[in-house]
Amino acid sequence: MNKKLCAMALSAVVAASLIAGCGGGDKKQAAAKPDTSKPLVIKLSHVFSPAEQLSKSMVMVTDRIRTKTKGRIDIQCFGQGQIATYKDGLEQVAQGADFISVEDPSYVGDYVPDFKPLVGPMMYESYDEYVKMIETPMVKDMIKKAEEKGVKILALDYIFGFRNLEVNKVIKTPEDLKGMKLRVPGSKLFIDTINAMGATATGMPYSETLSAVSAKTVDGLEGSEFSNDGTKVYEVCKNVATTKHFLGTCGVYISPKTWAKMTPEEQKIVADEFAFGGKEMTDLIKKDYDRTYKHLLEMGVKFNDVDHAAFNKAVEKVYLDMEEKQGATKGISKKMHEEVAKIRASLKK
Ligand code: G3P
Repeated sequence: MNKKLCAMALSAVVAASLIAGCGGGDKKQAAAKPDTSKPLVIKLSHVFSPAEQLSKSMVMVTDRIRTKTKGRIDIQCFGQGQIATYKDGLEQVAQGADFISVEDPSYVGDYVPDFKPLVGPMMYESYDEYVKMIETPMVKDMIKKAEEKGVKILALDYIFGFRNLEVNKVIKTPEDLKGMKLRVPGSKLFIDTINAMGATATGMPYSETLSAVSAKTVDGLEGSEFSNDGTKVYEVCKNVATTKHFLGTCGVYISPKTWAKMTPEEQKIVADEFAFGGKEMTDLIKKDYDRTYKHLLEMGVKFNDVDHAAFNKAVEKVYLDMEEKQGATKGISKKMHEEVAKIRASLKK
């Protein structure tokens, strides 16, 4: 190549890279267009067993997405902690992997700390209160902030029941928990709450929990009625103290990078199906409550009420700590409690 040709070629390369680097050029937009010539394979991870509704719902939702996108969006479900879960699942998403994490919203609190009080202890008395709360402008704003941190939220309402204490003795007050070790998922919110309630929390994946109770490494666990039935907790724990200290709910989280690999039409299908699936699951869970409760009684489980006022008092410090040491907005817990009180009153009308 002579010098002139070489110089022309060089300036063409420089011009092309400048266009691409400027951010507004057609070339960049063309490069960012989703490649629809091959399936987009995304791994979806959760900890639930095949018998639990959340597992079934994820299969239903992802099947519908596969059908409606003619196989283009291929979301493959991995349950029971086969791949990264809990905090590590969220981290996969935040790092931009083609990964969907289905977890308790407290893990989003590692990126936007206000998610911790949103699902804090003793916050809700009914599923509907939470469902209405996540529709408020306050929570919508938090959802936007999470996306800016690399966690796009497709749903927050895959509800799987209130969480109680599942043990082998009657627990009514925080004093009754003294000296007891209880398994919790490895979420700081869960650990802090169970410690504040009077027990000693042991963080452990669910898959190891029932054998740990059998081996007496822990004295019990905290979990929902539906998990109790679905995973046969009743075989190792016969008492349920109905603290309802958390509403068991999972959100669905995806990376904005993976999201950008879908066309707007595909994004709409995925968003609509995950939104629909949450409502569908909550309805199914509500309908299944009586059967589940009856079955647990048949399996020899005894339920007892607790001193809710004493447990409410005990967990106050969990909220204080979120604001003082964990980056939650000052005053947010009070604001959220007030918002829930308003919702509660409106639901009672
Ligand atoms: O993030 C999912 C979590 O809330 C499920 O709890 O007790 O089944 O590990 P667990």
